[in-house]
Formats: sequence, C-alpha cells, structure tokens
Amino acid sequence: MEIIEAKNYDEMSQKAAQLILTKVKQTPSLVLGLATGRTPVGTYLHLVKDYQEHQTSYRHVHTVNLDEYVGLGKENPTSYHTYMKEHLFNHIDIPNHQTHLPNGMATDLQGECQIYDELIENLGGIDLQILGIGVNGHIGFNEPGTSFSSTTNVVELTPSTRGKNACYFNNLSEVPSDAVTMGISTIMKSKQIVLLVSGMQKAHILYKLLSEPINEQIPASILKQHDNVIIIADNEALAVIRHNGSAAKTPR
Ligand code: PGA
Repeated sequence: MEIIEAKNYDEMSQKAAQLILTKVKQTPSLVLGLATGRTPVGTYLHLVKDYQEHQTSYRHVHTVNLDEYVGLGKENPTSYHTYMKEHLFNHIDIPNHQTHLPNGMATDLQGECQIYDELIENLGGIDLQILGIGVNGHIGFNEPGTSFSSTTNVVELTPSTRGKNACYFNNLSEVPSDAVTMGISTIMKSKQIVLLVSGMQKAHILYKLLSEPINEQIPASILKQHDNVIIIADNEALAVIRHNGSAAKTPR
C-alpha cells in the first residue's frame, strides 16, 4: 500500500487525475471504476480540464460506478447517473453506452446485482478503481459489518449515511433508504485501487484503517490485503496519523 501525500484537496485531485490520465493513455480500452460524493469532484474537474486542453480520448474506455440509489431514475437530478453526467461524462468523448452504473429502478434488484457483477466480469474486470471513504470506513455503500465476501448487493443505508447525503436532497425524507452497491469482493478484484482521502473529518478513519487490524467493522481495512492500492491523502486527512507517529509506515 503506497501513500501519496498531497498539500490540499486540489493537489490530491490533480494527482488522482494525473494517475487516471496516465492509465488511459497507456491502455485506451481501460475499465475504470468510478465513485461519486464530494471527494472525486475535483478529480473529475481536472479530467475535464485536460480534455478541453489536450483532448485525451475516452472513446474506448468503459466506466463502472460503485453504486446507485434504489428508486431514483437515470434522469433524477439527485441520482448518481446525473452526478456522473454533470461532473464528467457530458464533458468528455466517452460513448454513453460505455458508461455503466447499477440500475436503481430495476424491478428485480437481486437480478440487477448479478447482472452488474457479470457485466464487470465480461469487461475483463476493473483495471483501476477510484474510491472515497466514509467517516465510518465504508467503501461504496458497504457499511461497517458488511461481509468482505459480498458481491454487488442491495443495502439499507445507515441513518448516518442518509443524514450525510441529505444535503443533496430537499430534506432527509427524500433520501432513498436503499442502494445498489458494488460488493467488497467485487471491489477487491480490481487490478489497481486508488483511495482518495481529503479533509479533517476523514483523518480519524484513515488512521484507524492504517493502524487497526483488518476487520469488517472498518470495511476499507480490507484494502490492506490488496497488492496494488495507492492512497492519495491530503494534509488534513493525514493529521491524526502524523500526530500519532508511524502508523502509516506499518499498514498491515
Ligand atoms: P464523500 O463520500 O466523498 O462525500 O466524503 C465518501 C463516501 O462516503 O464514500
């Protein structure tokens, strides 16, 4: 597990975008796993800026997103489908049919989960997966206690996750209670994973992830078992690690 330090959010975003761009140029048919939330917004901004300035092409790239809310259609302004279009897909040359997110409107949600895992397999697996982390250690919507062997599944969102995401909705009652999320074992099959961590509010969980044993109460701790993970963290997110000494040097 490599840790790349960044001064601030923008430098973290730049470094992440640079890493993605290098991969896209090396492997034009890259299968790129993407995340939503506040953390990757800056990364997408840098990818869009690069596209405007250098026209790096995504014509042969496939993207697979981590999750989508149950009950929100593609056109719903608060769906992750819309988020991805607004932050990235509408601004680069990726063909729409090569961008994939779980269908939160599927009538057979369990079937949808299986279809999503099969889609990833059929694409040859994820080459590079971008992840954020929740303050409780979740990755995707895999909340604490999720089995490390989980595949793509339907999950009930915890009150804290719904509360945190309520800012995207008119009020808390509008936040869907369930989501379809890529499972932890699905994420772990990615060939490379980049975890982005920014801000004071993530400093404690980053310290726990690095200093505590791998356990299902900290879903992201499983990443220590993966042999190709890069954490890009900014100064604020590294604050507790620095305060407590050398945890970052002994990630396992
Ligand atoms: P955030 O969400 O980027 O909005 O902090 C990350 C997450 O909850 O996985």
